[in-house]
Amino acid sequence: MIMILIGPPGAGKGTQAKRIDEAFGVVQLSTGALLRASIASKTELGLKAKTLVEAGNLMPDDVVIALVSDRIDQPDCANGFILDGFPRTIAQAEALDVLLREKGLSLDHVIEIKIDADLQVKRLTGRFECGECGEGYHDSYKLPRIEGVCDRCGSSDFIRRADDKEDRVRTRLDIYQQETRPILPYYRARGILKSIDGSKDLDDVTRQLKEVLSPAQ
Ligand code: AP5
Repeated sequence: MIMILIGPPGAGKGTQAKRIDEAFGVVQLSTGALLRASIASKTELGLKAKTLVEAGNLMPDDVVIALVSDRIDQPDCANGFILDGFPRTIAQAEALDVLLREKGLSLDHVIEIKIDADLQVKRLTGRFECGECGEGYHDSYKLPRIEGVCDRCGSSDFIRRADDKEDRVRTRLDIYQQETRPILPYYRARGILKSIDGSKDLDDVTRQLKEVLSPAQ
């Protein structure tokens, strides 16, 4: 199964992609996570990404397309993959079509996760994670059971994404409206776009997703 999750920052793409990965055994392929890993390891790509990504701006199309092309070729993508955060521009959507055709693959689902702007800001500005094991937390929805101590690994090293500061979140939301939303008609015209409500609780959003992926007979 090959699918795209489209939605504004904070819609829940990453959270739901992990759940679908567990349920269906298809790998989550997050371009944002790939870029943050390159920033952390201070590669040449990472140095370029640091300025753009942390300010909330998009990376150039050719860089991200090459990153996705390489990642799809890894053996763990053989059973399928969930594109989380890609494509984000019309040029990326067109390049993905070419790339999949060249690799003899085809797209099964494109799912839009819809959510209001106010909720997006709340979700993103309150988000933090354990710097050791990556366990996710939130100021409003999920605090560690013991203050300052990770539930999973006991570390007291917590990090917040630089692009989750409110001004950068607003930049990301604007860019989503200008650059990414215009790709929805591209997929709607092909009849493979479905939309779900991302403002519901986590389990309800997962249920909606599963219903699209395996509709009741
Ligand atoms: P990326 O990492 O893709 O960030 P994003 O699209 O802004 O998405 P987020 O990860 O912030 O949100 P999400 O929808 O995954 O929500 P999440 O599940 O985490 O990209 C980062 C940057 O990399 C971009 O700005 C750009 O610079 C660059 N980049 C990446 N791809 C690129 C591309 N293709 N081209 C060019 N540049 C690119 O949830 C958010 C929070 O809400 C969490 O705390 C979560 O627990 C909580 N939450 C989620 N769902 C629910 C729910 N239903 N109820 C309650 N809480 C919820």
